[in-house]
Amino acid sequence: MEVVGAYLVQSLEKYHVENLVQNLDNQAQLISGFTERYFYPIPRRQEIENLIQGFANPDISHIVILDEKGSVVFSTDEDKFASGTKLFTPEVTQATFGSSSNDIRQDAETNERFMYLARPVKSNGKVIGIIYLIASMEKIYSTLGNVKTIVLMATVIALIVTGFLSFALSKTITGPIQEVTKKAALMAQGDFDQKIPVKSDDEIGKLTEMFNFLTTRLKETLEQISDEKGKMEAILTNMADGVVALNSQGEIIHINPAAMKMLPIDEFGNNLQSTLEKLFKISRVDFEGEDSDVKETIVKRGDAVLKAVMAPLKRDARVIGLILVIQDITKENRLENMRKEFVANVSHELRTPLTTIKSYAETLLEGALEEASIARQFTEVINNEADRMTRIVNDLLELSRLDNKEIRWKKEPLNIARVLKDVISKMEVNAVRKNQKLTFNVVPDRNGFESFADRDKMEQVFQNILSNAIKYTPEGGRIDVDLDMKDDMIEVTITDTGIGIPEKDLPRIFERFYRVDKTRSREMGGTGLGLSIAKEIVEAHGGKIVIESRQGEGTKVSIFLPPIIAA
Ligand SMILES: Nc1ncnc2c1ncn2[C@@H]1O[C@H](COP(=O)(O)OP(=O)(O)OP(=O)(O)O)[C@@H](O)[C@H]1O
Ligand SMILES: [Mg+2]
Repeated sequence: MEVVGAYLVQSLEKYHVENLVQNLDNQAQLISGFTERYFYPIPRRQEIENLIQGFANPDISHIVILDEKGSVVFSTDEDKFASGTKLFTPEVTQATFGSSSNDIRQDAETNERFMYLARPVKSNGKVIGIIYLIASMEKIYSTLGNVKTIVLMATVIALIVTGFLSFALSKTITGPIQEVTKKAALMAQGDFDQKIPVKSDDEIGKLTEMFNFLTTRLKETLEQISDEKGKMEAILTNMADGVVALNSQGEIIHINPAAMKMLPIDEFGNNLQSTLEKLFKISRVDFEGEDSDVKETIVKRGDAVLKAVMAPLKRDARVIGLILVIQDITKENRLENMRKEFVANVSHELRTPLTTIKSYAETLLEGALEEASIARQFTEVINNEADRMTRIVNDLLELSRLDNKEIRWKKEPLNIARVLKDVISKMEVNAVRKNQKLTFNVVPDRNGFESFADRDKMEQVFQNILSNAIKYTPEGGRIDVDLDMKDDMIEVTITDTGIGIPEKDLPRIFERFYRVDKTRSREMGGTGLGLSIAKEIVEAHGGKIVIESRQGEGTKVSIFLPPIIAA
């Protein structure tokens, strides 16, 4: 508007000025036409005055008539342009030379602007006088001023209106965008419950709609991720194996509770990282990937045996850390050792009688057969050793069947008191032979110690325990068999005053072939399988067997069996 206004004002000014010049020129020409004849040979003032007097034009302020030299002949303003004065304005000078010209000048006193136009009056090409017209330009300038004011006002109004409009418009545009920005900031802080009402159908509306869609999708995705993470965390937390993740600097970035439990932190101070490094000998090489794919380490720490599987943690074929899966293989290790020991024991136990048989048989073949008494003695030894082997093999078979649950139990309601009585009467001879006092006490119970059990197997259990008691109690000792109820279980205790079992051997006493004093036990005909078999049988009946003992004082074996509760 300013540019248009300036252009407008300028062209308007130009138009008015040109118009005025044209107008003045026309007037001058008109006047010169009328007055021409009064100039020659000298200007006749009276006639000119009369003529000019009748000539009135609102545009022209003053009319001055000059002679050919520029001296005033007549003027409408005698104060300013007195007759006889000579004018030297540029226009007048120009006119004396025969051409008309004009100029705009400001009055020094009133600041009024005037247009001055001088036109020569000619006769036969000779200047005979000059028409000098002076017109005030204030009207034009006041008109222009008005136009300027109008343009200015219009500009101001337009500015204000546009200001308001653009403010309102920008509000409708920026409002929703600001809201989206605000909600996006909230989202960045983790609050995904952001919804913006969709108010329009335009681009902003679409943006809002898209934003809402984005939030819901983001929320869903995040929920999925956190679900997955939760699952992974639960798995890691509840895993029996320890899992440790290290970053490329070797720092622990994740460790699960199982791993925490397995690692002996105290040994190396509280620094888990150095504990790990020292324990599993983690080196820089493990982080370099490629060929160092999966590495297995087994370390022993006291009683515990730990196995660690190390694998580089890769992202886009770049190693970013190390994953350690730690397993506590103490139990497996022990079982494995037990298995090896068992096989060694079996071989050893079988080889001993075999060696004996072999050497005795060789001696016999080498001539001892001729001597009847020696031959008989040797054959007896061979026979005994063969019996022993048979016993071992039978015991092993029995154990194997118990292990594989292949035994067909003939379970029936059994009176434990009666079974004990039978076993005692069978074994009594051995006790008597060793001068031992064997007693049997039953604490009366209204349920009568009935258990649902296999008679032969139960007899075997009691026989094993009782034979041990007799075997490992010196002559003149005491053996007590007691039958009672304890904690709703039938309790059979066989107590002796024998040699007892050293404390260090107690935990292993139920192991197969385990004997406190191998040579001595073997001399007594023991195989070291009796207690193991007894334990398996009792446990197969839902009971348990406990040994308490003190070396040199005696042993107490308690067998607990579930009773049949009388209806
Ligand atoms: N009452 C006891 N007093 C002292 N030591 C015992 C007693 N009972 C068992 N033991 C110890 O426990 C070991 C294992 O007993 P177990 O009955 O299993 O084997 P065993 O008696 O040697 O041979 P068998 O297979 O002939 O019974 C014995 O060798 C013995 O050292
Ligand atoms: Mg025994």
